[in-house]
Amino acid sequence: MIGFSRAAQTLVCDGVPLSAIAEAEGTPVYVYSAAVLRERYRALDHAFGSHPHRLHYALKANSTLGLARLLCELGSAADANSIWEVELARKAGFSAADIVFTGVGKSPAELECAVPLGLKAINVESVGELARVEAIAVRLGLVGRVALRVNPDIDAKSHPHISTGLRINKFGMPLDDVRALFRTIMSRRSLKLVAIHVHIGSQMTTTEPLARSAALVADLVKELGACGIPLEYVDLGGGLGISYDGRPVPTVEQYVTALLSAVAPTGLPIVIEPGRAIVGPSGTLLARVIDLKPRNADSQFAVLDAGMAELMRPALYNAYHGVEPVSVRSGGETQYELVGPICESADVVARDRLLTPLEVGDLVAIRDAGAYGSAMASNYNRHPLPAEVLVDDGRWRVIRRRQTIDDMTALEI
Ligand SMILES: Cc1ncc(COP(=O)(O)O)c(C=O)c1O
Repeated sequence: MIGFSRAAQTLVCDGVPLSAIAEAEGTPVYVYSAAVLRERYRALDHAFGSHPHRLHYALKANSTLGLARLLCELGSAADANSIWEVELARKAGFSAADIVFTGVGKSPAELECAVPLGLKAINVESVGELARVEAIAVRLGLVGRVALRVNPDIDAKSHPHISTGLRINKFGMPLDDVRALFRTIMSRRSLKLVAIHVHIGSQMTTTEPLARSAALVADLVKELGACGIPLEYVDLGGGLGISYDGRPVPTVEQYVTALLSAVAPTGLPIVIEPGRAIVGPSGTLLARVIDLKPRNADSQFAVLDAGMAELMRPALYNAYHGVEPVSVRSGGETQYELVGPICESADVVARDRLLTPLEVGDLVAIRDAGAYGSAMASNYNRHPLPAEVLVDDGRWRVIRRRQTIDDMTALEI
């Protein structure tokens, strides 16, 4: 059994007791299972069967070097959302030709660095951005490889903060703008259109919007083909959801079938940019109970040493994470409001949870925290960024040490 499971009433990760990691490294600490990460990468990869494809792991979900390296070793390519994620990807071992550079606001300085790198594509999000890429390419005497990000005006049916495919969202360009750019690009010697890109949202729990956006991309590819404009591939973004609360989500096979049934007839290779679906379930945030106090007649506050500084998702999106005591105490279940130590009432990790009794000093595991957890962590209230640990083949090692106050103030004058 790989991943997080119970052995003799205590939670283990790939056979390593989480309590041993907390004892050695302190809390809060992110713990990742290399086995889960590998399994989830491979499952997605295999689901495409013989159709040519490439997984570009979305570094925004979690770009800790140790994990990025693991994915690179597995054969993944990368999706970077800033020039710093591009640099991180290169440090992790990804070659420039295996990186796509997305992002709604690439600064002039970022583009200046990116254009000469020879990336697989710069995923262009506006008419103005295309002109900026072109100007740099002309000046440097290069050909800028670009993909056009289309905004298909499709509702991803996810949380509004992570839905990106509606016209009112800031991402990409409307279909007509994309169509108008086809001929412009063809007439420019310093630009090469290599793909159409779409990404309509994250944490999608139904395949229907994904199938619609893939169909729209396939139609565009056909239009381009009719005009004699060949593409190298289509980039269908990320977005496959995971089950945080036990409710069913599409399987990787259902997800890939939804994409393939629309795009396979074009014969083009498919690029996807999965983040959460690969890394989310591989990570757990371990925290300690530092206080208990009454909340109301029915429940108690359990104050943890991890909160919105370490894991922002609950405060930001009202997101649900499973929470469980690492070692189970006997006794009936009690209702807890699990809160963080940050000076904000929004700093609630989990509401109204029925758990076996907790005592001060107990460890709790906040599950499925591998994606958009450590990547979004901050120093709010001067919390140090937490340590991160990778468990691999029954052994564990620190892949990021806990920040110190000296690390935190090193840049301050
Ligand atoms: C352009 C793009 N690609 C890929 C992703 C990764 O999405 P997910 O982690 O849901 O797979 C995102 C995140 O929202 C994104 O904005």
